[in-house]
Amino acid sequence: MIEISTATPLYEYLRLCNLNPLPKKILDCGAGWANTKLSLFYQYGYEAFGLEINKEAMDEAVEFCKEKDYALHLLRGDMRDIPFADEAFSFVYSYNAISFMTKPDIKNSINELKRVLRPGGLCYVNLFSVDDPDNRPFDRNSFAYRLLKSERFSKFEDNEADIYFESCEIIRKEKRLTEKIENEKKYVRADIDYIARKK
Ligand SMILES: C[S@@+](CC[C@H](N)C(=O)[O-])C[C@H]1O[C@@H](n2cnc3c(N)ncnc32)[C@H](O)[C@@H]1O
Repeated sequence: MIEISTATPLYEYLRLCNLNPLPKKILDCGAGWANTKLSLFYQYGYEAFGLEINKEAMDEAVEFCKEKDYALHLLRGDMRDIPFADEAFSFVYSYNAISFMTKPDIKNSINELKRVLRPGGLCYVNLFSVDDPDNRPFDRNSFAYRLLKSERFSKFEDNEADIYFESCEIIRKEKRLTEKIENEKKYVRADIDYIARKK
């Protein structure tokens, strides 16, 4: 039985990937922590590669895969400089990971995601919207401050990031405003999701 992931926005991406005729080879940028979202694609038959910059996050993902007996290819690395050849993947995504970086690094990273994507392949990223209320600075001990030299989440106006996908066709764009109560705590966040096809 396929396990259900908590990353609901990735299901629409998975649906579009499943409809795409390219070989099922996928890269997750920022694939760390237990219950890695990459396992969703693995369970649907994808050859699944994950890149993760933070050792702790990587170790947890590796442990999780061992426990579940999932044969994911996880490697330590930085999406600002992806250690794979041009056009190596049919599908490349970054979920809840890219907004930890500064805007110049986000631009570089999206260029890297596009570089390793085959023409006709699909890319997914979610960015934080300026409507997201969390503007707290990162803790000095956080991975984002230490490894990415980033002070807080980067936030985008509704159409500001469209330019990053210039060489692609944006096939789906969604602004998600989420207000939920979970474990008696209220959460509010605002994302902008992109799914783009490389021309
Ligand atoms: C909030 S976690 C989300 C992890 C996973 N995508 C998920 O949804 O469960 C963000 C992850 O992105 C990773 N990350 C952030 N910037 C990165 C970069 N430049 N290269 C690789 N990984 C990065 C972080 O280390 C962290 O593990």
